[in-house]
Amino acid sequence: MTDHSSRNPDWWRQAVIYQVYPRSFADADGDGLGDLKGLTDRLNHLAALGVDALWLSPFYPSELADGGYDVADHRDVDPRLGTLDDFDAMAAEAHRLGLKVIVDIVPNHTSHRHPWFREALSAGPGSPARDRYVFRPGRGTDGELPPTDWQSVFGGSAWRRVPDGDWYLHLFAPEQPDLNWDNEQVRADLRTTLRFWSDRGVDGFRIDVAHGLAKDLTEPLRDVGDLGATGEEALERLAPGTHPYWDRDEVHEIYRDWRKVFDAYSPPRTAVAEAWVPDARRALYARPDELGQAFNFEYLQTGWDADRLREVITASLATAHTVGASATWVLSNHDVVRHASRLMLAPGTDENAWLLSGGHAPEVDAPAGLRRARAATLLMLALPGSAYLYQGEELGLPEVADLPVSVLQDPVWEQTGHVRKGRDGCRVPLPWTRTGPSYGFGPGAAWLPQPPYFSAYAVQAQAATEGSTLELYRTALRLRRKLQEGETLTWVPGAPAGVLHFTRTDAWRCVANLSGEPVPLPPGEVLLSSGPLRDGRLDPDTTVWLG
Ligand code: GLC
Repeated sequence: MTDHSSRNPDWWRQAVIYQVYPRSFADADGDGLGDLKGLTDRLNHLAALGVDALWLSPFYPSELADGGYDVADHRDVDPRLGTLDDFDAMAAEAHRLGLKVIVDIVPNHTSHRHPWFREALSAGPGSPARDRYVFRPGRGTDGELPPTDWQSVFGGSAWRRVPDGDWYLHLFAPEQPDLNWDNEQVRADLRTTLRFWSDRGVDGFRIDVAHGLAKDLTEPLRDVGDLGATGEEALERLAPGTHPYWDRDEVHEIYRDWRKVFDAYSPPRTAVAEAWVPDARRALYARPDELGQAFNFEYLQTGWDADRLREVITASLATAHTVGASATWVLSNHDVVRHASRLMLAPGTDENAWLLSGGHAPEVDAPAGLRRARAATLLMLALPGSAYLYQGEELGLPEVADLPVSVLQDPVWEQTGHVRKGRDGCRVPLPWTRTGPSYGFGPGAAWLPQPPYFSAYAVQAQAATEGSTLELYRTALRLRRKLQEGETLTWVPGAPAGVLHFTRTDAWRCVANLSGEPVPLPPGEVLLSSGPLRDGRLDPDTTVWLG
């Protein structure tokens, strides 16, 4: 059985981490935005669920141009979400309940409201204040063209011009200017931020856009188009580590430097990289002298296909093993369509078109989606390594695909000229109670409208209700804690087509039926099942744990 004591330096290797998106978790003061007091009041939900840690998306001062990932001060709390004292109270309560606390660090960019960026604007071209960011003159006769063809992830050029004629780089929203990681002040400031939160008792960090910090800023800057590839394919097609701004080899020096900060604490602070890069490259971020872990987005993107999942699981375990990291698994987060809806979309479905149609083309059948999501979760929770859960998935929440465009807040919607609908559908505030102005989220209305059907998904509707998704998660996490041992799995030969069957230990086997047809249930004591079992068979979209 894994050592779950709070001093165990390896606590993270097979932990279950619950992502809290603070704006949408619980609102204590009634302004419609979730806050730290609301979270503290609801921490018992996480303790009862049985997770090891919570990861908090940004709660720092921000104008919310990108849901808080536009940080104006990395070492404070947004007044709408509380104060540093509220943070300390939340962390103390989490620790009292045996939960570790992980905070989000956004090192690639700041908010344009950050004092450094204001200073850069007033200090003018060529100033040391501008050198903390990436300012360049434009091209064209009057500098009226952007310095390069680099594109923002949210759409359009990644450059914006300021009144004195210079352009600055923003790989995300224009309100998120990119920092210059060749600047020593930028590096020193981030170390101060890591120590600031570590000194307050934070146990680990989630590193936003970990693959973006190092950029090739040697003059002249290179167009990505000149390298023979544009957009998303560029990362796949160029030699690894050579893209001008994604996943460059130099980024790893930065993390080796941070590791010294993490290791100065006892137990060492942990970190997980958000890096949208191919499997083998991802493992580099997870090296023990760097961040230790990296999110496995390949797994998230695999879909409900047994052969592909078997390959991805096998490869992920092998690559994590080569660098001495533990594997990670994730199905949902605040950037993707919730898995209770996503896994039902036919392979190749254009998710954006589906969202724009309000979730109707093709329609996702909610009960079927929930059945599949429960099976997918039970499969994930049986894998060796750590699992990252996203708030609301323990309730089986689907994507709110039919949000009217008038309420959208994600900058993606405006920045793409109303082409991409964005990520609001997975960020709708949680339902806690069956009734009430925002189903118990807070005393008033929530910042995004919740659909009436949220009532049936509320924690109150599911707690202590046999067969509910919440009870499935609770039981699974309790059993996993007891059964977890070693970091390997063995595929059982001879599983029917479309069926995943593996053993973790002599006392723990997992069988998932993705085949579309019922299959015979292998012998063994049923420990837990994601759906009803009948007549010695395992129905489609069902996972079972056997003893
Ligand atoms: C990460 C975050 C996402 C944010 C982006 C820019 O991908 O997960 O929500 O928009 O970084 O900070």
